[in-house]
Amino acid sequence: MGVSTASYQIEGAVTEGGRGPSIWDTFSHTPGKTLNGDTGDVACDHYHRWAEDLDLMTGLGVGAYRFSVAWPRIQPDGTGQPHQQGLDFYDRLVDGLAARGIAAIPTLFHWDLPQALEDRGGWLSRETALRFAEYAGHVADRIGDRVTRWITLNEPVVHMAQGYAWGTHAPGRTLNLEALPVAHHQLLGHGLAVRQLRERGATEVMITNNCTPVSPASDSEVDQVAAMLYDGFHNRLFNEPVLIGKYPEFLDEGLAPVIQDGDLAIIATPLDALGINYYNPTLVAAPSEPDQMFDLRPIEGVPTTAFGWPVVPEGLHGLLTGLRATYGTKLPPVYITENGCSTGDVLDDQFRIDYLDGHLEAVRRAVQDGVDVRGYFVWSLLDNFEWAEGYSQRFGLVRVDFQTQTRTPRASFRWLQDALK
Ligand code: FCB
Repeated sequence: MGVSTASYQIEGAVTEGGRGPSIWDTFSHTPGKTLNGDTGDVACDHYHRWAEDLDLMTGLGVGAYRFSVAWPRIQPDGTGQPHQQGLDFYDRLVDGLAARGIAAIPTLFHWDLPQALEDRGGWLSRETALRFAEYAGHVADRIGDRVTRWITLNEPVVHMAQGYAWGTHAPGRTLNLEALPVAHHQLLGHGLAVRQLRERGATEVMITNNCTPVSPASDSEVDQVAAMLYDGFHNRLFNEPVLIGKYPEFLDEGLAPVIQDGDLAIIATPLDALGINYYNPTLVAAPSEPDQMFDLRPIEGVPTTAFGWPVVPEGLHGLLTGLRATYGTKLPPVYITENGCSTGDVLDDQFRIDYLDGHLEAVRRAVQDGVDVRGYFVWSLLDNFEWAEGYSQRFGLVRVDFQTQTRTPRASFRWLQDALK
């Protein structure tokens, strides 16, 4: 059991320690891109308060911490020799975790690409995959003596869709289907990084995919086709190449121009585990606009989070047993690397307790049904910078007062603490 966070969402200190700008600095400082113009400039000030935050984890009683490394701290301009001051921060963090008996599980890319790489094409460019592998090697050179479990990428589907297809996240490009190369280059970077990590002694390497069980809004053929397409883009585009070394057939033509010989073998480098972030299922209908492929429909009759996301714990059980049924022995052990909900700005968050309780129960049932689940991470330890929603969505077991940086554990924190005892 652990908690998850991500660098740009909590660290702040964006110009300290020699950190270079990331695409999220640029995006959040562009008027109109985030709610209230919020930025990650200060966020939870975790860069300075990390020790206090690790103490919170000790108090909670979790055995593992999933955090992400900010690439622009390690290579401020995206390439070249690693920046020692940047590495020092994660070095201290890893030592701090070891001293508290908490396992460190770094994610190497949780969306904060160095702006300098975006200027050279970002993930639309194959070059970024090569740079990512090089960066992964630098980080492992420094902390790989103490870290054996790694996550390469966080949710490449969300980065592709929101960042490059729809423009709702950094880097804010609106390429629609032309964003497809971003999938391939991220996956290639993942595969190359797996090899770099293994060479440096990593024993457990995974990718974290955002997965959602997809249902058609009706049994009409057009809704079913739309649901199949959505499932193809959201789930299969990222699970299939890493698990079985091929893309969903309907995407072969679109991806052909960027796939080179040998790429799929690199992408399918065997994984020790699959990381899954689950928040909700998705209901899909045929498109109402001719230039779209599908419409997303609200799921009625279930509670919704402050964010408006439907709460369906059974979706997690169905997702896990479905992956097992689809991929059989090709499915490695699974970690739920994120699950959680946003609530209003309250301390008595019974809503979150019910959410977590329901989803843990769903995981338990999946385990009984034969799925090998090795871990579960709550998103998130702290309220933080929720991307385009700024500070309006509070996902923390711990409330953060962003004026004073005071941390206050919520009822859900106590509940989890008791459960872990
Ligand atoms: C996931 C992201 C994470 C956080 C949660 C709410 O998609 O990986 O950073 O924003 O959603």
